[in-house]
Amino acid sequence: MKLFSHEVVQKQWASVDYRKNMSMIGQVRIGGHQEIIAIGSYADDSDNRAEVAFVVREDFQSMGIASHLLATMQRIAKENGFTGFSATVLRENTAMLQVFKKRYPHAKTQVSGGNDIAILMDFSDAVEYGHKVPSSAPGEDDVCVCTPK
Ligand SMILES: CC(C)(COP(=O)(O)OP(=O)(O)OC[C@H]1O[C@@H](n2cnc3c(N)ncnc32)[C@H](O)[C@@H]1OP(=O)(O)O)[C@@H](O)C(=O)NCCC(=O)NCCS
Repeated sequence: MKLFSHEVVQKQWASVDYRKNMSMIGQVRIGGHQEIIAIGSYADDSDNRAEVAFVVREDFQSMGIASHLLATMQRIAKENGFTGFSATVLRENTAMLQVFKKRYPHAKTQVSGGNDIAILMDFSDAVEYGHKVPSSAPGEDDVCVCTPK
């Protein structure tokens, strides 16, 4: 498991600037209240690439939630000038690898020491439902990236 220092966590998640870093949550209404069941986030990495990561609550996994968040975050990251994502995934994390490989079948993978796999994904390679995503996908312009004034 990858561990993050308090400083990194505070920098990345507590000060979202909506451009260089972004977090999205998925919520469901259970009973009379909303519960967070998924988080996706990206943060500026290097070379116009952002490092992306997800967590989906166990009882909501394998329903396509991470795949949906990945597609949405790509649209936002692209609008913010990024050209691709990077990620570091444990070798045995087949679910996460499947989510990335399904959308970016040409992603470059590299064993990065120990049990980790480093993945580089280009937005220009994105595939949705087996078809290449056009450079400006229908509805893409409808995404509202709300930024604080
Ligand atoms: C990895 C994770 C985010 C995936 O979220 P999710 O919402 O379940 O993902 P999706 O439902 O969009 O897709 C999962 C895919 O993996 C497949 N899958 C799930 N478990 C699998 C397994 N054990 N072996 C092979 N494939 C598997 C699913 O069938 C699905 O593929 P498909 O869309 O082709 O059918 C979620 O499992 C999770 O939160 N894991 C713990 C945290 C984590 O590892 N985060 C990654 C850090 S980068």
